[in-house]
Amino acid sequence: MEKHKVALESLDPYRIRNDFPIFERKIRGKPLIYFDNAATSQKPKSIIEVEKRFYEETNANIHRAVHTLSYESTVLYEESHKKVANFIGAKNWREIIFTRNATESINLVAYGWGLHNLRKGDEVLITIMEHHSNIVPWQMLRDQKGITLKILDIDDEGRLKLDELPRLISERTKLVSVIHASNVLGTVNPVRHVINEAKKVGALVLVDAAQSIPHIPVNVTELGCDFLVASGHKMLGPTGTGFLYGRYEILNEMEPFLYGGDMIETVTIEKSTWNELPWKYEAGTPNIAGGIGLGAAVDYLNRIGVEKIFKHEREIVGYSLERMSDFPWIELYGPRGNDRVGVVLFNISGVHPHDVAGILDEEGIAVRSGHHCAQPLMRRLGMDIAVRASFYLYNTKEEVDKFVEVLREVRRLF
Ligand SMILES: Cc1ncc(COP(=O)(O)O)c(C=O)c1O
Repeated sequence: MEKHKVALESLDPYRIRNDFPIFERKIRGKPLIYFDNAATSQKPKSIIEVEKRFYEETNANIHRAVHTLSYESTVLYEESHKKVANFIGAKNWREIIFTRNATESINLVAYGWGLHNLRKGDEVLITIMEHHSNIVPWQMLRDQKGITLKILDIDDEGRLKLDELPRLISERTKLVSVIHASNVLGTVNPVRHVINEAKKVGALVLVDAAQSIPHIPVNVTELGCDFLVASGHKMLGPTGTGFLYGRYEILNEMEPFLYGGDMIETVTIEKSTWNELPWKYEAGTPNIAGGIGLGAAVDYLNRIGVEKIFKHEREIVGYSLERMSDFPWIELYGPRGNDRVGVVLFNISGVHPHDVAGILDEEGIAVRSGHHCAQPLMRRLGMDIAVRASFYLYNTKEEVDKFVEVLREVRRLF
């Protein structure tokens, strides 16, 4: 049978849960229900083991010495770059720079590219849906370089107003920096369309894939973006890991972000020259164990299959929305459709979001309440804070049932 005619098998979240030691944990005697995956994901034992094994058997600095341990560390760390490159369809592993997180990746572009290439009067276009990490670095450039920051709005359902793009993009636009999947509304944006529009005027495009890479198949070559950032820790990898993908030619031309050891080729007192990619942008001793752990996270995701993960999350989010829609006292935000990752933003009328989160926590259910690092978006939605439940491959409908049961209890109590 042809491959595309085979229906995608479902993943078994109950089997997957066995890989995650944290689910043995009880919170006040109750099983942990972890619905805060948009903040960071839990980690499978295999990835914890990879880091542990690295420290027990291989630990040494990379690119420094000829001894066996240093050589092995270097190989493992470089292999992780290659795994990430393959995972996102990059043509060359040297286009992958390991960072601490998505925020640092965006700052790398703002400092390394923006500071040196943007001039007064140039424009950077972002959207009202951005996480603070894709707003504040561009504000820094606005204030330092005199560029203009333009904002693409959303419609009432929480989708980008794409018909406004032609009005906002012009010859002055030098960069479009757009969120792929919203950490607040779950909306998956048609970034391909945005990229095509930006390319018409020769603008570069940065895709903030922090909430898409862990959940949806993403291929940078097919997308044709110039930069893409993601957080390793949201895709089962260790905390303190993230990466930047950048097109080779651009990274080669850009200025370094951090200066010092390992990012140089030669140093004299008069001047220095830069190392080859990606090391030009990885100054100092990197998070070697974390980077190797990120490679192991990619292996894990590949074993499960990101398409299966997306399918599973769509089922869980669909089920949650269906269950929660039964109650008129729950206000739900975000689009109704398949263009959505596993994020549900809501409020319970008359109850403060922190109270909702507090009562859920009493029952062992971890959600986030607050502004979700997206204050302009929250304001655009007409509120300050809300509750967010965000799902991943190990969450089950049974957990959603328990969650809904507690929400009813919240309503009863208030
Ligand atoms: C869409 C989006 N972009 C960027 C970030 C920042 O990620 P990090 O905290 O790894 O820097 C987040 C984190 O929640 C996010 O959701």
